[in-house]
Amino acid sequence: MDSVAIIGLGYVGLPLACLCARKGLTTFGFDVNKKTVEKINAGISHIADAELERQVRKLKGKISATTDEKVISKASVIVVCVPTPVDEKHHPDLYALKSACSSIARNLKKGQLIIVESTIFPGTTEEVVLPILQESGLKPEKDFFLVHCPERIDPGSRKWGIENIPRVLGGMSKEGTKKAKNFYGNVLKAEVFEMNSVKEAEAVKLTENSFRDVNIAFVNELAKSFDKMGIDVADVIRGASTKPFGFMPFWPGPGVGGHCIAIDPYYLIERAKSKGFQHEFLPLARKINDSMPAFVVGLAEFLTGNLEGKKIACLGIAYKADVDDTRESPALKVVELLKEKRAVVKTFDPFVKSKSNCSSLEEAVKEADCVVLLTAHNLFVKTISAEFLKKNNVKAVVDARNALDKDAISAAGIRFKGIGR
Ligand SMILES: NC(=O)c1ccc[n+]([C@@H]2O[C@H](COP(=O)([O-])OP(=O)(O)OC[C@H]3O[C@@H](n4cnc5c(N)ncnc54)[C@H](O)[C@@H]3O)[C@@H](O)[C@H]2O)c1
Repeated sequence: MDSVAIIGLGYVGLPLACLCARKGLTTFGFDVNKKTVEKINAGISHIADAELERQVRKLKGKISATTDEKVISKASVIVVCVPTPVDEKHHPDLYALKSACSSIARNLKKGQLIIVESTIFPGTTEEVVLPILQESGLKPEKDFFLVHCPERIDPGSRKWGIENIPRVLGGMSKEGTKKAKNFYGNVLKAEVFEMNSVKEAEAVKLTENSFRDVNIAFVNELAKSFDKMGIDVADVIRGASTKPFGFMPFWPGPGVGGHCIAIDPYYLIERAKSKGFQHEFLPLARKINDSMPAFVVGLAEFLTGNLEGKKIACLGIAYKADVDDTRESPALKVVELLKEKRAVVKTFDPFVKSKSNCSSLEEAVKEADCVVLLTAHNLFVKTISAEFLKKNNVKAVVDARNALDKDAISAAGIRFKGIGR
């Protein structure tokens, strides 16, 4: 049975560590964040997710987390799950990846399999990861094996978890690819597809997330266009979805957030640029999606007039429903823009108390000139009815997630705007 060392115990690495431990693998975790390590060893998840919290509690003692990189030498499989963000110019920032690879190189042993799950642009494994690992003096695909297997986790989803999502992988040799396939075969209940090369596997992930970014940008643009025509975009998308082929629904919103969709297209854009190709679709999609927070603020202004001094309740800070992740969240931008307009901004997110200035939904919405729904957390969708809004004397609603009952709220005399509806 394999033993595994997961490098980076965040949204991707922690569920993987739990899965490996559940499947009986000797599981080590290496993370540079001392607090994260201490919590995991104490059976506490540092990520607010009910299922993950339950698992980390149950697996207390079965995941040996540490800030000591020497642990890497103890495992037969090493999986890299460190962040790969962009810098302020939207250029790939590979600092964490390079640093994790240096930790591996210093502790590399013959026979080890290294799998990079972090999202990277085509060429990163061979041009960035490999040279660092070779500093160990060991020979690639003879002494150690290198594979890329992009993570596809869908935080907050009850249907798709780490165990049942099919995976693709590409190795630098047939032997390495086979070893990685065996590793995932032992822990997953899903198919693992072999790509022809590492580069193809790297490109798969960027294609998936760029596809989402472009399609979300398309419906966001439709929302703005249909808004002018008085057509409900959500109804139109539902209508188009009745076509059993050639259409796939995407939904408009306040913009795109998270560590993937708002970032990964830049990895492709920049890599292509360095190879002499200028993408046109991808920067345009980024621009449209980045314009949505201002569109949301424009809707609030449309409903309430000049925002100065108005009480605006922003509900949701996380980038998607029922998670605590605020990375690249468009809600943060909406709050910033409202403050620039001198609105009195109240914020509440049950998953992100640290960035909420109210401690309850009621406190945030009471007497609000406008409620702006930014994240469709279950609590909000269940609680925010026309009666609830009336009871709290709310005057207007911008439903940036198209998740509320437009007809009932309008019928109650509350001014209402959705995104394109
Ligand atoms: N979050 C998602 O939904 C998601 C989905 C698919 C793929 N990914 C990709 O997976 C990768 C990880 O993303 P994440 O969301 O888990 O990030 P994260 O920030 O939640 O977790 C990363 C962890 O790595 C640790 N770390 C940073 N540098 C390190 C180093 N040098 N050595 C050891 N540990 C280090 C951090 O302390 C942190 O705990 C990224 O490349 C991301 O694009 C993320």
